[in-house]
Amino acid sequence: MVVTAPVLAVDGLSVDYITDRGAVRAVDGVSLEVAKGEFLGIVGESGCGKSTLLFAIARLLSPPAEIAAGSVRFRGRDMVAMDEDELRHVRWRDYSVVMQSAMNALNPVMTIGAQLKDAIEAHEPASSQKIRERSEHVMRLVGIDPIHLASYPHQLSGGMRQRAMIAMALVFSPELVIMDEPTSALDVVAQRSLMLQIKELQRRIGFAAVFVTHDMSLVSHFSDRLAVMYAGQIVEVGATRSVFEDPKHPYTKGLMQSFPSISGPKERLVGIAGSPPDLLQPPAGCRFHPRCPSVMPRCRTEEPPFYEEPADLVRCHLYDR
Ligand SMILES: Nc1ncnc2c1ncn2[C@@H]1O[C@H](COP(=O)(O)OP(=O)(O)O)[C@@H](O)[C@H]1O
Ligand code: SF4
Ligand SMILES: [Mg+2]
Repeated sequence: MVVTAPVLAVDGLSVDYITDRGAVRAVDGVSLEVAKGEFLGIVGESGCGKSTLLFAIARLLSPPAEIAAGSVRFRGRDMVAMDEDELRHVRWRDYSVVMQSAMNALNPVMTIGAQLKDAIEAHEPASSQKIRERSEHVMRLVGIDPIHLASYPHQLSGGMRQRAMIAMALVFSPELVIMDEPTSALDVVAQRSLMLQIKELQRRIGFAAVFVTHDMSLVSHFSDRLAVMYAGQIVEVGATRSVFEDPKHPYTKGLMQSFPSISGPKERLVGIAGSPPDLLQPPAGCRFHPRCPSVMPRCRTEEPPFYEEPADLVRCHLYDR
């Protein structure tokens, strides 16, 4: 049997924000793996630590955030131990990051072409012609007329700006692309079309993707596997299909009810009562217990481990048999 090493292996990763009131643990003991060419979706409410997790994986965290524990292995190499010099070699070339807002990530006073040129030259010497060819190629890949290499970010529509950022992320054909809600600034129709395009690019180029969103319906058709985050922790992970058709964790069940089914009849949005905890002082036991409709006495004191269900890992005492 051939066992391929994962492209990305995150093990026991914890991230703290050091504040005047103490350390806020925004990511707590997260472990996950992404195989070659796999599309992993990460979903959870705003504030649950999705961006912090992605920034930690990409080694883009800055103070007051710091990695408190755990490892991030990218193609077998420990990213946490890498210094800035080593990181510069792998970032963009081997893995790249697409941020939530192109408006913040792109330089407003440089044309798209100039920014692509900078990105290419930062990694390897290339002739002007090579740079132009590669820039035009990635623009076409994301469906933008290369004429817009001469445009400034503010001259593009929101959807085109996000596409331009994806073009930059693909300039070296990386093995992994990390995406933080890249469609969330767009209207529903533009979101859907960008999502389709991202999936098509991923299929064609074959990169592995980690895609974060607060919108479960968005990743339902696109990700191979789905990880559900709550209060800094992963609470359920499994094949997207199985998580969708048969959610196990009470939080996942709540998330499923908080968006309307696309095809089915209009249902009332039930959602999840209450709000996520203060990560400075998370609840003891299961972090979801103050909001959980199935709470049991042990949930208030005992932190649940992951229980193995046939197609799923779930962190909930209901599955202790
Ligand atoms: N600069 C900061 N200082 C202190 N705490 C922060 C800071 N940024 C984020 N946090 C904490 O980290 C949590 C997770 O934030 P974030 O990763 O942005 O969540 P998400 O991307 O899921 O919305 C927040 O709920 C907050 O408690
Ligand atoms: S461990 Fe208990 S409180 Fe937590 S999700 Fe499961 S049933 Fe609910
Ligand atoms: Mg975020």
